[in-house]
Amino acid sequence: MSNESLANLMTETRRFAPPAEVTAAANVTAAAYEAAAEDRLEYWAEQARRLSWEQEPTETLDWSNPPFAKWFADGRLNVAYNCVDRHVEAGNGDRVAIHFEGEPGDSRAITYAELQREVSQAAHALTELGVATGDRVAIYMPMIPEAVIAMLACARIGAPHSVVFGAFSADALATRIEDADARVVITSDGGYRRGAPSALKPAVDEALTRPGAARVRNVLVVRRTGQDVPWTEGRDLWWHETVGRQPEEHTPEAFDAEHPLFILYTSGTTGKPKGILHTTGGYLTQVAYTHHAVFDLKPETDVYWCTADIGWVTGHSYIVYGPLANGATEVLYEGTPNTPHNGRWWEIVEKYGVTLLYTAPTAIRTCMKWGDDVPAGFNLSSLRVLGSVGEPINPEAWVWYREHIGGGRTPVVDTWWQTETGAMMISPLPGVTLAKPGSAQTPLPGISATVVDDDGNEVANGSGGYLTLTEPWPSMLRTIWGDDQRFLDTYWSRFEGRYFAGDGAKKDADGDIWLLGRVDDVMLVSGHNISTTEVESALVSHPRIAEAAVVGATDPQTTQAICAFVILRGGAPQEEGLVEELRAHVSKELGPIAKPKRILAVDELPKTRSGKIMRRLLRDIAENRELGDVTTLTDPAVMDLIQSKLPSAPSED
Ligand code: WT7
Repeated sequence: MSNESLANLMTETRRFAPPAEVTAAANVTAAAYEAAAEDRLEYWAEQARRLSWEQEPTETLDWSNPPFAKWFADGRLNVAYNCVDRHVEAGNGDRVAIHFEGEPGDSRAITYAELQREVSQAAHALTELGVATGDRVAIYMPMIPEAVIAMLACARIGAPHSVVFGAFSADALATRIEDADARVVITSDGGYRRGAPSALKPAVDEALTRPGAARVRNVLVVRRTGQDVPWTEGRDLWWHETVGRQPEEHTPEAFDAEHPLFILYTSGTTGKPKGILHTTGGYLTQVAYTHHAVFDLKPETDVYWCTADIGWVTGHSYIVYGPLANGATEVLYEGTPNTPHNGRWWEIVEKYGVTLLYTAPTAIRTCMKWGDDVPAGFNLSSLRVLGSVGEPINPEAWVWYREHIGGGRTPVVDTWWQTETGAMMISPLPGVTLAKPGSAQTPLPGISATVVDDDGNEVANGSGGYLTLTEPWPSMLRTIWGDDQRFLDTYWSRFEGRYFAGDGAKKDADGDIWLLGRVDDVMLVSGHNISTTEVESALVSHPRIAEAAVVGATDPQTTQAICAFVILRGGAPQEEGLVEELRAHVSKELGPIAKPKRILAVDELPKTRSGKIMRRLLRDIAENRELGDVTTLTDPAVMDLIQSKLPSAPSED
């Protein structure tokens, strides 16, 4: 990526020092970077000691057959014991592990002692259903406590789980069941979504009619909504009956550190989904460490809330394994942020006194669009650290998050990582880092990342290129399930000996890292590489714009022409001359080369269920093509809405 596209983010000059009270009591200080730089493996060996091992590892990393890593290979441990039992044994059985908040307003507090009983019962039930160590279990659930319990029960008996996001189709579920050859599915009758019960079980029934999923023996069904469910006698079992009658005590067995913990499929934009495989000891070490370091978690006093769904890696690592390994108290919320009103999230923060909040830029921008007065109506003074994940957070959203949610006090940590990395990799530390809005800044202690050019040479400060990870890390994916070759081709072939993450990035004058989005999202305009992220960020820095999506459309003169789709703040109608004003604004921020050729105001943008904008579909529109596959869209109707606006598209130069 050439430098002209980097101008905007580089000119972001606002800086936020860590609050003195956070620094004074921080879990991790600047010394951690030095310790890790001095002896990276010893640093990770030390972090592994946060866990309770039945057999302590003597070897930290086996990298004799790269890129197939083994971490802590001769250690043995049980993940569920680490996330549950040991906290009870330490005398914290009465501490709330999960504050569950249902969408209809029902709530339930589950202590670590209760969690231990329920996980134990679920583990017995799975064993009774013939699930043995190493067998795969598919989990297709709403955001209810049983989802967490099911995952921990699988971990407890060494049966890798494959969680499939509850809003995926029957086909997507069937493909994943088949690829992992799961024989048991855990689901529920339904869950509450947007104020009404939404069924899940029928999608499982449909998936199991597909030939590839025909080997499923049993479906364990949690009763959440009480709605009628189709039932297959002999195959389907109620959770409350089958789990409910099991003994409340269960002895956890220790497994090898490299025993598979879970498979999680990344949707990907093309091709068969990739089953990302994570294992036990290294994964748990890094999720526990990063949750402790990046959120500065104090388990006795903090109330933590991650708004992700357990169907994504964020839910695995930062709802289930990281926080529970650390003995945290956390909120689990079932529903949507605007049911029954736009302030529901802030009401929850106030109700539980949430101190640490982890969410995604797309959610933050949606809240900006709903207006500052919504969060202002709630007491958010308990918050002390705010996190962001999932895509680059533009500086305006970062600053809004800090001001309007964090009361202008809280550090904001922009955490870069991926399903494949398993845990956070690049992020500020809340008590250490002088924060720069829009930048993930620094690889965490023990992590090695850099930005390289096309030939794999590290770029100088002030330049852009490709983000690569240069040393193995404990929570790295071990392979793609059943496809080592694809693992090698996808991640390890672009740059010799390095992991290529697929993201563009730049280093600023201080060497801090700024993420620029997926490399597929870089546009070529008249011989210049321009990142969609930066043009979007420039648009969102205009006071009238809440959200923007930018794509490059084929253009006979300039190779690609920049097309922008924008959502106006506060939903007000578009004023005369706004498009010209926006083009001038981008030109001023980034230079005339980055000025969008077309700008279209829309009401919604097409997003995947994890909140990523589907630029591919917008490109189809910008190039007047038939729309491609829309099945992973949250709401396919959005595309009709956008297309209906096309006649009023501004004229081209
Ligand atoms: C991709 C990974 C990590 C959990 C959720 C997404 C983008 C993620 C950031 C960030 C800029 C980010 C990257 C990455 N991404 N976090 N803080 N700044 N970009 O997991 O679905 O595997 O997506 O999300 O492009 O490669 P995922």
